[in-house]
Amino acid sequence: MVSTVIPVQPFDLVIFGATGDLAKRKILPSLYRRLAVHQMPEGARVIGAARSKMTRAEFRKQTLAALQEFVAPDLLKPDLVEQFIASVDYVPVDAGGEDGWAQLAKKLGEKPDHIRAFYLSVAPALFAVIADKLAAAGVATPSSRIVVEKPLGKDLASARALNAQLSKHFTEAQIYRIDHYLGKETVQNLMAIRFANALFEPLWNARYVDHVQITVAENLGVAGRGEYYDKSGAMRDMVQNHLMQLLCLTAMEPPAHFEPNMVRDEKLKVIRSLEPLKLSDIVRGQYRANGSGSSYLDDVKNPQSRTESFIAIRAHIQNWRWAGTPFYLRTGKKLSARLSEICVVFRDPPHSIFPKVDDLRGNALIIRLQPNEGITMRVTIKDPGPGGMRLTEVPLDMTFAKALGGEAEMPEAYERLIMDVIRGDQTLFMRGDEVEAAWSWVDPIIDAWTDAGSKPQQYDPGSAGPIDAYKLTSSDGHLWREIAT
Ligand code: BG6
Repeated sequence: MVSTVIPVQPFDLVIFGATGDLAKRKILPSLYRRLAVHQMPEGARVIGAARSKMTRAEFRKQTLAALQEFVAPDLLKPDLVEQFIASVDYVPVDAGGEDGWAQLAKKLGEKPDHIRAFYLSVAPALFAVIADKLAAAGVATPSSRIVVEKPLGKDLASARALNAQLSKHFTEAQIYRIDHYLGKETVQNLMAIRFANALFEPLWNARYVDHVQITVAENLGVAGRGEYYDKSGAMRDMVQNHLMQLLCLTAMEPPAHFEPNMVRDEKLKVIRSLEPLKLSDIVRGQYRANGSGSSYLDDVKNPQSRTESFIAIRAHIQNWRWAGTPFYLRTGKKLSARLSEICVVFRDPPHSIFPKVDDLRGNALIIRLQPNEGITMRVTIKDPGPGGMRLTEVPLDMTFAKALGGEAEMPEAYERLIMDVIRGDQTLFMRGDEVEAAWSWVDPIIDAWTDAGSKPQQYDPGSAGPIDAYKLTSSDGHLWREIAT
């Protein structure tokens, strides 16, 4: 099955930080892939902006190298590559200084009808500076869009300050805060599964759902990003954004329409309904060395660090739908596998007419974000064959790539999100109030760790995290799912 691609309107996308890692790995390759499926229209321009005094030809050369490195070779068709490279331009701009802004304004002025988007792929300290400069240079028109990505602050106060700085020049409808997890195919599928099927929604509440597990496990450590990571830790880097977004989409009420603000209103209500966290609801971990592998402390070059590379949380949502159903969240580095999934575990039938079987775990709906996006429903059936009624569990398994045919496209999160920016669709972007509410939930705990001088528990690389993470669920009579692919 090949998906329908609707071209977007001609646009100018200015990438600040165009020579950086995100531009090379994600933004430029994603744009190319959209051009390759004819979604990026003729005349659209990708304008790199960075401090480096490079010529357009040099930036095009860099762009070509990025495509060669980060786009699958079978997608690199010479005529399409040529067409893409021809759409790429470059202006040296000093974000904090005066150089380059007039030149950028001149370039954008050549195409006054184009949709304008400014992608700030730069250090967060520059977000407000660039927003000010865009306004001063007169290039931020009322229909322009500004795109920023986490970290969106490091606590509530700084997130508020950032929102205030951006909204000096841009309305909320012009600000696109990326959480790349919202661009993942299965994350959106979660909304389709819940709200386009009559099957699940009647059961989607505390009466039928025993508990929910949300896991985002990674098998790599933090080597190479140690400086950033050590100041953030898993709570700021993953929980405050990605995991909370997954929690919101799993727990929210059906919006009246699939409309950006209606969806975001419902997510916000979930965050505001979260019970304040207690220290006893959280387990923090830090990976140690094993064999030849380095420890977290080695990776961040900070032998005293108390930052967590793993966290497990028991969250409660105080509303009519979810009171009494715990949501367990966990994320960590150097775990046994790279796996992201949401598992909704249903309660047992109210009365069993069959003899009890110890190792049956009951119905569960598992929504797999990565790898192998798909959905599995765990159901209990009769063990085949004669010999009486014995029960066993089987997965009803649907891997999207198989179910939708070999040609099913799973676009990268950034492809979808950048096209949504151009289309002006904010459904998959975080609103300022959501970001602030999420900080309000995690801030008190981060402060409490600092005040208590709390230390994360060590765990072995390749494991499922520290021992206490097991206890968090087992003390409630639950068991984490295995982290394996
Ligand atoms: C980023 C975090 O937002 O998400 C990283 O900063 C993390 O620490 C990454 O590795 C995970 O994203 P993905 O798409 O690879 O699961």
